[in-house]
Amino acid sequence: MSNAEKLAPIGVVGLAVMGSNLARNFAHKGHTVAVYNRSYGKTEALISNHGDEGDFLPAETIEEFVASLERPRRAIIMVQAGKATDAVIEQLADAMEEGDIIIDGGNALYTDTIRREAELSSRNLHFVGAGISGGEEGALNGPAIMPGGSAESYASLGPLLESISAHVDGVPCCTHIGPDGAGHFVKMVHNGIEYADMQVIGEAYHLLRYAAGMTPQEISEVFSEWNAGDLDSYLVEITAEVLKQVDADTGKPLVDIVVDAAGQKGTGRWTVKAALDLGIPVTGIGEAVFARALSGDREMRAATSGELASGSLRSLEDLGIKREDFIDDVRAALYASKLVAYSQGFDEIKAGSAEHGWNVDPRDLATIWRDGCIIRAKFLDRIREAYDSSPELTSLLLDPYFRAEMEHSMDAWRRVVVTATQLGLPIPVFGSSLSYYDSLRSSRLPAALIQAQRDYFGAHTYERIDRPGSFHTLWSGDRSEVEA
Ligand code: ATR
Repeated sequence: MSNAEKLAPIGVVGLAVMGSNLARNFAHKGHTVAVYNRSYGKTEALISNHGDEGDFLPAETIEEFVASLERPRRAIIMVQAGKATDAVIEQLADAMEEGDIIIDGGNALYTDTIRREAELSSRNLHFVGAGISGGEEGALNGPAIMPGGSAESYASLGPLLESISAHVDGVPCCTHIGPDGAGHFVKMVHNGIEYADMQVIGEAYHLLRYAAGMTPQEISEVFSEWNAGDLDSYLVEITAEVLKQVDADTGKPLVDIVVDAAGQKGTGRWTVKAALDLGIPVTGIGEAVFARALSGDREMRAATSGELASGSLRSLEDLGIKREDFIDDVRAALYASKLVAYSQGFDEIKAGSAEHGWNVDPRDLATIWRDGCIIRAKFLDRIREAYDSSPELTSLLLDPYFRAEMEHSMDAWRRVVVTATQLGLPIPVFGSSLSYYDSLRSSRLPAALIQAQRDYFGAHTYERIDRPGSFHTLWSGDRSEVEA
Protein backbone atom coordinates (compact mmCIF):
# COMPACT_ATOMS: atom_id res chain seq x y z
CA MET A 1 0.00 0.00 0.00
CA SER A 2 1.39 3.44 -0.76
CA ASN A 3 1.52 6.12 1.87
CA ALA A 4 -1.17 8.05 0.02
CA GLU A 5 -3.70 5.29 0.80
CA LYS A 6 -2.61 4.25 4.24
CA LEU A 7 -4.06 5.98 7.30
CA ALA A 8 -2.56 6.13 10.80
CA PRO A 9 -4.52 5.66 14.05
CA ILE A 10 -2.23 8.19 15.75
CA GLY A 11 0.00 11.09 14.77
CA VAL A 12 2.69 13.13 16.50
CA VAL A 13 3.30 16.85 15.86
CA GLY A 14 6.66 18.20 17.02
CA LEU A 15 9.60 15.91 16.49
CA ALA A 16 12.19 17.18 18.95
CA VAL A 17 13.55 14.48 21.28
CA MET A 18 10.36 13.73 23.24
CA GLY A 19 8.12 13.82 20.16
CA SER A 20 10.29 11.59 18.01
CA ASN A 21 10.82 9.11 20.83
CA LEU A 22 7.08 8.92 21.40
CA ALA A 23 6.48 8.41 17.66
CA ARG A 24 9.08 5.62 17.62
CA ASN A 25 7.43 4.02 20.65
CA PHE A 26 4.08 3.91 18.79
CA ALA A 27 5.84 2.44 15.74
CA HIS A 28 7.61 -0.18 17.87
CA LYS A 29 4.22 -1.27 19.23
CA GLY A 30 2.99 -1.94 15.69
CA HIS A 31 0.99 1.24 15.13
CA THR A 32 1.27 3.21 11.94
CA VAL A 33 2.21 6.69 13.08
CA ALA A 34 1.84 9.96 11.18
CA VAL A 35 4.60 12.46 11.93
CA TYR A 36 4.89 16.19 11.32
CA ASN A 37 7.26 18.93 12.42
CA ARG A 38 7.12 22.64 11.54
CA SER A 39 10.56 22.45 9.91
CA TYR A 40 10.76 19.38 7.70
CA GLY A 41 14.40 18.70 8.60
CA LYS A 42 13.44 17.03 11.90
CA THR A 43 10.89 14.83 10.11
CA GLU A 44 13.53 13.79 7.58
CA ALA A 45 16.03 13.09 10.35
CA LEU A 46 13.51 10.84 12.14
CA ILE A 47 12.74 8.91 8.96
CA SER A 48 16.37 8.55 7.87
CA ASN A 49 17.61 7.51 11.33
CA HIS A 50 14.68 5.41 12.50
CA GLY A 51 12.33 4.91 9.55
CA ASP A 52 13.11 1.18 9.50
CA GLU A 53 11.82 0.71 13.06
CA GLY A 54 8.16 0.71 12.03
CA ASP A 55 5.47 2.30 9.93
CA PHE A 56 5.83 6.09 9.73
CA LEU A 57 3.78 8.43 7.55
CA PRO A 58 5.86 11.61 7.24
CA ALA A 59 3.96 14.77 6.28
CA GLU A 60 5.36 18.04 4.98
CA THR A 61 2.30 20.13 5.82
CA ILE A 62 -0.22 20.07 8.63
CA GLU A 63 -3.00 19.43 6.08
CA GLU A 64 -1.14 16.42 4.71
CA PHE A 65 -0.60 15.22 8.27
CA VAL A 66 -4.28 15.52 9.18
CA ALA A 67 -5.26 13.79 5.94
CA SER A 68 -3.04 10.83 6.86
CA LEU A 69 -4.98 10.12 10.10
CA GLU A 70 -7.89 7.70 10.36
CA ARG A 71 -11.10 8.98 11.99
CA PRO A 72 -11.61 9.96 14.68
CA ARG A 73 -8.23 11.60 14.12
CA ARG A 74 -5.85 11.51 17.06
CA ALA A 75 -2.91 13.91 17.05
CA ILE A 76 -0.46 14.30 19.92
CA ILE A 77 1.25 17.67 20.15
CA MET A 78 4.80 17.60 21.53
CA VAL A 79 5.97 21.20 21.14
CA GLN A 80 6.97 23.89 23.60
CA ALA A 81 4.32 24.79 26.16
CA GLY A 82 2.59 28.16 25.74
CA LYS A 83 2.33 30.02 22.44
CA ALA A 84 3.74 27.20 20.28
CA THR A 85 1.13 24.80 21.66
CA ASP A 86 -1.67 27.31 21.00
CA ALA A 87 -0.41 27.85 17.44
CA VAL A 88 -0.32 24.13 16.66
CA ILE A 89 -3.75 23.53 18.25
CA GLU A 90 -5.18 26.26 16.03
CA GLN A 91 -3.66 24.75 12.87
CA LEU A 92 -4.87 21.26 13.73
CA ALA A 93 -8.35 22.41 14.75
CA ASP A 94 -8.76 24.26 11.46
CA ALA A 95 -7.91 21.13 9.51
CA MET A 96 -9.85 18.65 11.68
CA GLU A 97 -13.50 17.62 11.84
CA GLU A 98 -16.10 16.97 14.51
CA GLY A 99 -15.16 14.23 16.96
CA ASP A 100 -11.41 14.37 16.25
CA ILE A 101 -9.03 14.39 19.22
CA ILE A 102 -6.15 16.78 19.84
CA ILE A 103 -3.80 15.68 22.61
CA ASP A 104 -1.28 17.99 24.27
CA GLY A 105 1.49 15.77 25.61
CA GLY A 106 3.64 18.66 26.88
CA ASN A 107 3.84 20.15 30.35
CA ALA A 108 1.02 22.66 29.94
CA LEU A 109 -0.29 24.64 32.87
CA TYR A 110 -3.58 22.94 33.79
CA THR A 111 -5.53 26.20 33.62
CA ASP A 112 -4.41 26.55 29.98
CA THR A 113 -5.66 23.00 29.42
CA ILE A 114 -9.05 23.86 30.96
CA ARG A 115 -9.28 26.90 28.66
CA ARG A 116 -8.24 24.96 25.55
CA GLU A 117 -10.61 22.11 26.29
CA ALA A 118 -13.53 24.53 26.61
CA GLU A 119 -12.60 26.28 23.35
CA LEU A 120 -12.23 23.07 21.38
CA SER A 121 -15.29 21.38 22.80
CA SER A 122 -17.31 24.39 21.58
CA ARG A 123 -15.97 23.46 18.13
CA ASN A 124 -17.00 19.81 18.67
CA LEU A 125 -13.41 18.66 18.97
CA HIS A 126 -11.96 16.71 21.88
CA PHE A 127 -8.98 18.12 23.68
CA VAL A 128 -6.91 15.91 25.95
CA GLY A 129 -4.20 17.36 28.17
CA ALA A 130 -1.98 14.37 28.85
CA GLY A 131 0.88 14.47 31.31
CA ILE A 132 3.72 12.25 30.13
CA SER A 133 6.52 11.41 32.53
CA GLY A 134 9.68 9.43 32.13
CA GLY A 135 11.95 11.75 30.19
CA GLU A 136 13.43 10.81 26.84
CA GLU A 137 13.97 7.21 27.80
CA GLY A 138 10.41 6.82 29.06
CA ALA A 139 8.95 8.36 25.91
CA LEU A 140 10.83 5.77 23.86
CA ASN A 141 10.36 2.66 25.98
CA GLY A 142 7.31 3.23 28.15
CA PRO A 143 6.33 6.38 30.04
CA ALA A 144 3.67 6.91 32.69
CA ILE A 145 0.81 8.76 31.01
CA MET A 146 -1.80 10.92 32.75
CA PRO A 147 -4.53 11.86 30.26
CA GLY A 148 -7.35 14.25 31.12
CA GLY A 149 -10.27 15.18 28.87
CA SER A 150 -13.62 13.54 28.26
CA ALA A 151 -14.37 9.88 28.99
CA GLU A 152 -15.48 9.60 25.35
CA SER A 153 -12.08 10.69 24.07
CA TYR A 154 -10.38 8.24 26.44
CA ALA A 155 -12.45 5.36 25.10
CA SER A 156 -10.96 5.99 21.67
CA LEU A 157 -7.48 7.11 22.69
CA GLY A 158 -6.83 5.11 25.86
CA PRO A 159 -5.94 1.75 24.28
CA LEU A 160 -3.32 3.42 22.05
CA LEU A 161 -1.74 5.30 24.97
CA GLU A 162 -1.88 2.25 27.21
CA SER A 163 -0.08 0.21 24.54
CA ILE A 164 2.98 2.49 24.66
CA SER A 165 3.02 3.12 28.41
CA ALA A 166 5.10 1.23 30.94
CA HIS A 167 3.39 -1.78 32.55
CA VAL A 168 3.60 -3.34 36.02
CA ASP A 169 2.40 -6.95 36.20
CA GLY A 170 0.45 -6.38 33.00
CA VAL A 171 -1.25 -3.23 34.33
CA PRO A 172 -0.57 -0.16 32.14
CA CYS A 173 0.92 2.98 33.72
CA CYS A 174 -1.79 5.00 32.01
CA THR A 175 -5.38 5.63 32.97
CA HIS A 176 -8.04 8.29 32.47
CA ILE A 177 -7.39 10.80 35.25
CA GLY A 178 -10.51 12.97 34.92
CA PRO A 179 -12.09 15.75 32.83
CA ASP A 180 -10.41 18.77 31.20
CA GLY A 181 -7.27 19.82 33.14
CA ALA A 182 -7.12 16.83 35.54
CA GLY A 183 -4.29 15.08 33.69
CA HIS A 184 -2.02 18.10 33.52
CA PHE A 185 -2.81 19.03 37.13
CA VAL A 186 -1.81 15.58 38.31
CA LYS A 187 1.33 15.66 36.15
CA MET A 188 2.19 19.06 37.63
CA VAL A 189 1.93 17.71 41.19
CA HIS A 190 3.88 14.61 40.13
CA ASN A 191 6.67 16.95 39.08
CA GLY A 192 6.37 18.88 42.35
CA ILE A 193 6.77 15.63 44.27
CA GLU A 194 9.77 14.88 42.06
CA TYR A 195 11.36 18.19 43.16
CA ALA A 196 10.85 17.26 46.84
CA ASP A 197 12.14 13.73 46.28
CA MET A 198 15.29 15.02 44.58
CA GLN A 199 15.83 17.59 47.34
CA VAL A 200 15.57 15.03 50.18
CA ILE A 201 18.04 12.81 48.33
CA GLY A 202 20.26 15.89 47.94
CA GLU A 203 20.03 16.65 51.67
CA ALA A 204 20.93 13.06 52.57
CA TYR A 205 23.92 13.21 50.22
CA HIS A 206 25.03 16.55 51.63
CA LEU A 207 24.94 15.25 55.21
CA LEU A 208 26.86 12.09 54.38
CA ARG A 209 29.39 14.16 52.50
CA TYR A 210 29.90 17.11 54.83
CA ALA A 211 28.83 15.77 58.23
CA ALA A 212 30.13 12.22 57.90
CA GLY A 213 33.01 13.19 55.57
CA MET A 214 32.34 10.42 53.08
CA THR A 215 33.51 10.43 49.45
CA PRO A 216 31.02 10.45 46.57
CA GLN A 217 32.09 6.87 45.78
CA GLU A 218 31.34 5.76 49.35
CA ILE A 219 28.02 7.57 49.29
CA SER A 220 27.19 5.92 45.97
CA GLU A 221 27.57 2.57 47.72
CA VAL A 222 25.27 3.68 50.54
CA PHE A 223 22.61 4.74 48.01
CA SER A 224 22.94 1.41 46.21
CA GLU A 225 22.31 -0.36 49.52
CA TRP A 226 19.33 1.86 50.27
CA ASN A 227 18.00 1.08 46.81
CA ALA A 228 17.76 -2.57 47.82
CA GLY A 229 15.29 -1.71 50.62
CA ASP A 230 12.26 0.52 51.23
CA LEU A 231 13.86 3.39 49.35
CA ASP A 232 14.04 1.34 46.14
CA SER A 233 13.34 3.93 43.44
CA TYR A 234 14.54 5.29 40.13
CA LEU A 235 15.83 8.52 41.71
CA VAL A 236 17.87 6.69 44.39
CA GLU A 237 19.20 4.31 41.74
CA ILE A 238 20.40 7.11 39.43
CA THR A 239 21.86 8.98 42.41
CA ALA A 240 24.16 6.00 43.04
CA GLU A 241 25.17 6.10 39.36
CA VAL A 242 25.76 9.85 39.31
CA LEU A 243 27.88 9.75 42.49
CA LYS A 244 30.32 7.21 41.11
CA GLN A 245 30.84 9.12 37.89
CA VAL A 246 34.37 10.50 37.53
CA ASP A 247 35.07 13.58 35.38
CA ALA A 248 37.28 12.57 32.47
CA ASP A 249 39.07 15.93 32.32
CA THR A 250 40.07 16.32 35.95
CA GLY A 251 39.78 12.83 37.41
CA LYS A 252 37.56 14.28 40.14
CA PRO A 253 34.06 13.10 41.07
CA LEU A 254 31.68 14.63 38.52
CA VAL A 255 29.43 15.90 41.32
CA ASP A 256 32.28 18.17 42.43
CA ILE A 257 32.70 19.63 38.94
CA VAL A 258 29.05 20.41 38.28
CA VAL A 259 28.03 23.98 39.21
CA ASP A 260 25.72 23.83 42.26
CA ALA A 261 22.94 26.01 40.81
CA ALA A 262 19.81 23.96 40.13
CA GLY A 263 17.62 24.82 37.15
CA GLN A 264 13.87 24.54 36.89
CA LYS A 265 11.38 24.69 34.07
CA GLY A 266 8.43 25.75 36.22
CA THR A 267 6.25 22.75 37.10
CA GLY A 268 7.47 22.76 40.72
CA ARG A 269 6.70 26.45 41.00
CA TRP A 270 3.24 25.89 39.48
CA THR A 271 2.58 23.13 42.02
CA VAL A 272 3.33 25.51 44.87
CA LYS A 273 1.32 28.38 43.37
CA ALA A 274 -1.70 26.09 42.92
CA ALA A 275 -1.26 24.78 46.47
CA LEU A 276 -1.21 28.34 47.83
CA ASP A 277 -4.50 29.06 46.07
CA LEU A 278 -6.01 25.82 47.35
CA GLY A 279 -4.70 26.45 50.87
CA ILE A 280 -2.83 23.15 51.00
CA PRO A 281 0.56 23.16 52.74
CA VAL A 282 3.01 21.45 50.41
CA THR A 283 5.97 22.45 52.52
CA GLY A 284 8.30 19.77 51.12
CA ILE A 285 7.69 20.80 47.53
CA GLY A 286 7.79 24.49 48.47
CA GLU A 287 11.13 24.17 50.24
CA ALA A 288 12.49 22.16 47.31
CA VAL A 289 11.50 24.88 44.84
CA PHE A 290 12.98 27.59 47.10
CA ALA A 291 16.16 25.54 47.58
CA ARG A 292 16.62 25.48 43.80
CA ALA A 293 15.96 29.21 43.62
CA LEU A 294 18.48 29.90 46.40
CA SER A 295 21.11 27.70 44.77
CA GLY A 296 20.61 29.57 41.50
CA ASP A 297 21.02 33.04 43.01
CA ARG A 298 24.72 33.15 42.37
CA GLU A 299 25.08 36.84 43.08
CA MET A 300 23.55 36.54 46.55
CA ARG A 301 25.57 33.43 47.30
CA ALA A 302 28.83 35.05 46.18
CA ALA A 303 28.11 37.88 48.61
CA THR A 304 27.08 35.69 51.56
CA SER A 305 29.12 32.49 51.24
CA GLY A 306 31.78 32.40 53.95
CA GLU A 307 30.66 35.85 55.18
CA LEU A 308 27.74 35.16 57.49
CA ALA A 309 28.28 34.20 61.12
CA SER A 310 27.74 30.51 61.91
CA GLY A 311 27.90 30.41 65.70
CA SER A 312 30.03 27.62 67.15
CA LEU A 313 29.67 24.57 65.00
CA ARG A 314 30.06 21.00 66.18
CA SER A 315 31.19 17.86 64.39
CA LEU A 316 29.93 14.28 64.54
CA GLU A 317 33.04 13.48 66.54
CA ASP A 318 32.36 16.26 69.09
CA LEU A 319 28.85 14.93 69.45
CA GLY A 320 30.06 11.35 69.85
CA ILE A 321 28.03 10.13 66.88
CA LYS A 322 29.38 7.12 65.01
CA ARG A 323 29.34 7.27 61.23
CA GLU A 324 27.42 3.99 60.82
CA ASP A 325 24.72 5.19 63.20
CA PHE A 326 24.51 8.52 61.42
CA ILE A 327 24.09 6.80 58.03
CA ASP A 328 21.18 4.77 59.42
CA ASP A 329 19.61 7.90 60.88
CA VAL A 330 19.93 9.79 57.61
CA ARG A 331 18.20 6.93 55.80
CA ALA A 332 15.30 7.15 58.23
CA ALA A 333 15.13 10.95 57.91
CA LEU A 334 15.08 10.64 54.13
CA TYR A 335 12.29 8.09 54.23
CA ALA A 336 10.16 10.08 56.68
CA SER A 337 10.61 13.40 54.84
CA LYS A 338 9.82 11.71 51.56
CA LEU A 339 6.62 10.26 52.97
CA VAL A 340 5.56 13.71 54.19
CA ALA A 341 6.22 15.21 50.74
CA TYR A 342 4.18 12.51 48.98
CA SER A 343 1.40 12.83 51.51
CA GLN A 344 1.27 16.59 50.90
CA GLY A 345 1.27 16.07 47.11
CA PHE A 346 -1.68 13.68 47.39
CA ASP A 347 -3.45 16.25 49.61
CA GLU A 348 -3.03 18.83 46.85
CA ILE A 349 -4.41 16.47 44.22
CA LYS A 350 -7.39 15.70 46.41
CA ALA A 351 -8.05 19.42 46.94
CA GLY A 352 -7.58 20.26 43.23
CA SER A 353 -9.91 17.44 42.28
CA ALA A 354 -12.59 18.65 44.72
CA GLU A 355 -12.22 22.26 43.57
CA HIS A 356 -12.66 21.36 39.89
CA GLY A 357 -15.02 18.41 40.31
CA TRP A 358 -12.58 15.99 38.65
CA ASN A 359 -13.16 12.96 40.85
CA VAL A 360 -9.53 11.89 40.67
CA ASP A 361 -8.93 8.54 42.36
CA PRO A 362 -5.63 8.61 44.31
CA ARG A 363 -5.35 4.83 43.86
CA ASP A 364 -5.04 5.38 40.12
CA LEU A 365 -2.05 7.63 40.64
CA ALA A 366 -0.29 5.26 42.98
CA THR A 367 -0.91 2.59 40.33
CA ILE A 368 0.33 4.42 37.25
CA TRP A 369 3.32 6.04 38.96
CA ARG A 370 4.79 2.64 39.86
CA ASP A 371 6.78 2.55 36.63
CA GLY A 372 7.67 4.69 33.63
CA CYS A 373 7.81 8.01 35.49
CA ILE A 374 10.65 9.72 37.29
CA ILE A 375 9.18 9.17 40.78
CA ARG A 376 8.66 5.45 40.19
CA ALA A 377 9.38 3.59 43.40
CA LYS A 378 8.55 0.56 45.48
CA PHE A 379 7.08 3.08 47.89
CA LEU A 380 4.20 3.68 45.41
CA ASP A 381 3.07 0.09 45.96
CA ARG A 382 2.69 0.92 49.65
CA ILE A 383 0.69 4.04 48.81
CA ARG A 384 -1.53 1.98 46.53
CA GLU A 385 -2.11 -0.54 49.30
CA ALA A 386 -2.97 2.31 51.68
CA TYR A 387 -5.66 3.69 49.35
CA ASP A 388 -6.86 0.18 48.47
CA SER A 389 -7.62 -0.62 52.07
CA SER A 390 -8.98 2.84 52.83
CA PRO A 391 -10.04 4.81 49.71
CA GLU A 392 -11.21 7.80 51.79
CA LEU A 393 -7.96 8.07 53.78
CA THR A 394 -7.75 11.62 55.21
CA SER A 395 -3.96 11.64 55.07
CA LEU A 396 -1.42 9.06 53.95
CA LEU A 397 0.25 9.61 57.31
CA LEU A 398 -2.76 7.94 58.96
CA ASP A 399 -2.40 4.68 57.05
CA PRO A 400 -1.43 1.94 59.55
CA TYR A 401 1.65 0.86 57.58
CA PHE A 402 2.97 4.42 57.24
CA ARG A 403 2.11 5.24 60.86
CA ALA A 404 4.28 2.34 61.93
CA GLU A 405 7.06 3.42 59.55
CA MET A 406 6.97 6.94 60.95
CA GLU A 407 7.04 5.69 64.51
CA HIS A 408 10.05 3.63 63.59
CA SER A 409 11.82 6.62 61.95
CA MET A 410 10.91 9.36 64.42
CA ASP A 411 13.86 9.31 66.81
CA ALA A 412 16.39 9.05 64.00
CA TRP A 413 14.67 11.85 62.09
CA ARG A 414 14.79 14.15 65.13
CA ARG A 415 18.45 13.30 65.73
CA VAL A 416 19.35 14.15 62.12
CA VAL A 417 17.56 17.51 62.25
CA VAL A 418 19.30 18.40 65.52
CA THR A 419 22.72 17.20 64.36
CA ALA A 420 22.52 18.99 60.99
CA THR A 421 21.57 22.17 62.85
CA GLN A 422 24.49 21.80 65.26
CA LEU A 423 26.83 21.27 62.32
CA GLY A 424 25.39 24.23 60.39
CA LEU A 425 24.31 22.15 57.38
CA PRO A 426 21.12 23.14 55.53
CA ILE A 427 18.22 20.67 55.56
CA PRO A 428 15.24 22.67 54.30
CA VAL A 429 12.99 19.67 53.57
CA PHE A 430 14.14 17.37 56.40
CA GLY A 431 13.59 20.18 58.90
CA SER A 432 10.35 21.68 57.56
CA SER A 433 8.79 18.25 57.06
CA LEU A 434 9.45 17.43 60.71
CA SER A 435 7.83 20.72 61.79
CA TYR A 436 4.86 20.00 59.54
CA TYR A 437 4.54 16.54 61.06
CA ASP A 438 4.81 17.92 64.61
CA SER A 439 2.16 20.54 63.73
CA LEU A 440 -0.22 17.80 62.61
CA ARG A 441 0.48 15.89 65.82
CA SER A 442 -0.14 18.88 68.07
CA SER A 443 -3.36 19.31 69.97
CA ARG A 444 -2.73 23.07 70.35
CA LEU A 445 -1.08 25.38 67.82
CA PRO A 446 0.02 29.01 68.17
CA ALA A 447 -2.83 29.86 65.81
CA ALA A 448 -4.83 30.75 68.93
CA LEU A 449 -2.43 33.62 69.58
CA ILE A 450 -2.57 34.65 65.90
CA GLN A 451 -6.37 34.80 66.06
CA ALA A 452 -6.16 36.99 69.18
CA GLN A 453 -3.61 39.27 67.47
CA ARG A 454 -5.89 39.54 64.42
CA ASP A 455 -8.75 40.45 66.68
CA TYR A 456 -6.57 43.07 68.42
CA PHE A 457 -5.45 44.99 65.33
CA GLY A 458 -8.28 44.27 62.91
CA ALA A 459 -11.32 43.20 64.94
CA HIS A 460 -11.27 39.97 62.93
CA THR A 461 -13.00 38.12 65.81
CA TYR A 462 -12.25 34.67 67.19
CA GLU A 463 -14.08 31.52 68.21
CA ARG A 464 -13.97 30.20 71.77
CA ILE A 465 -13.19 26.61 72.66
CA ASP A 466 -16.03 26.47 75.21
CA ARG A 467 -19.08 27.80 73.33
CA PRO A 468 -20.21 28.51 69.77
CA GLY A 469 -20.20 31.93 68.13
CA SER A 470 -17.76 34.69 67.11
CA PHE A 471 -16.27 36.97 69.73
CA HIS A 472 -14.35 40.23 69.90
CA THR A 473 -12.46 41.76 72.79
CA LEU A 474 -12.75 45.53 73.14
CA TRP A 475 -8.96 45.90 73.10
CA SER A 476 -8.87 49.69 73.06
CA GLY A 477 -11.77 49.96 75.48
CA ASP A 478 -12.33 48.18 78.78
CA ARG A 479 -11.12 44.83 77.31
CA SER A 480 -14.38 43.12 77.96
CA GLU A 481 -15.61 40.57 75.42
CA VAL A 482 -18.58 41.06 73.16
CA GLU A 483 -20.32 38.59 70.89
CA ALA A 484 -19.69 39.60 67.27
P1 ATR B 1 13.36 20.25 22.94
O1 ATR B 1 13.62 21.09 24.17
O2 ATR B 1 13.44 18.79 23.16
O3 ATR B 1 14.05 20.74 21.69
P2 ATR B 1 10.96 21.77 22.75
O4 ATR B 1 11.85 22.96 22.66
O5 ATR B 1 10.02 21.61 23.87
O6 ATR B 1 11.81 20.44 22.63
O7 ATR B 1 10.10 21.68 21.41
C1 ATR B 1 10.66 21.99 20.20
C2 ATR B 1 9.61 21.57 19.17
O8 ATR B 1 8.57 22.55 19.16
C3 ATR B 1 10.18 21.51 17.80
O9 ATR B 1 9.58 20.42 17.15
C4 ATR B 1 9.73 22.83 17.20
O10 ATR B 1 9.62 22.83 15.81
P3 ATR B 1 10.92 23.26 14.90
O11 ATR B 1 11.75 22.01 14.81
O12 ATR B 1 10.35 23.64 13.61
O13 ATR B 1 11.60 24.38 15.62
C5 ATR B 1 8.37 22.95 17.82
N1 ATR B 1 7.82 24.30 17.78
C6 ATR B 1 8.24 25.35 18.51
N2 ATR B 1 7.49 26.44 18.23
C7 ATR B 1 6.57 26.06 17.30
C8 ATR B 1 5.50 26.72 16.62
N3 ATR B 1 5.20 28.00 16.86
N4 ATR B 1 4.79 26.00 15.73
C9 ATR B 1 5.06 24.71 15.51
N5 ATR B 1 6.04 24.01 16.13
C10 ATR B 1 6.79 24.68 17.01
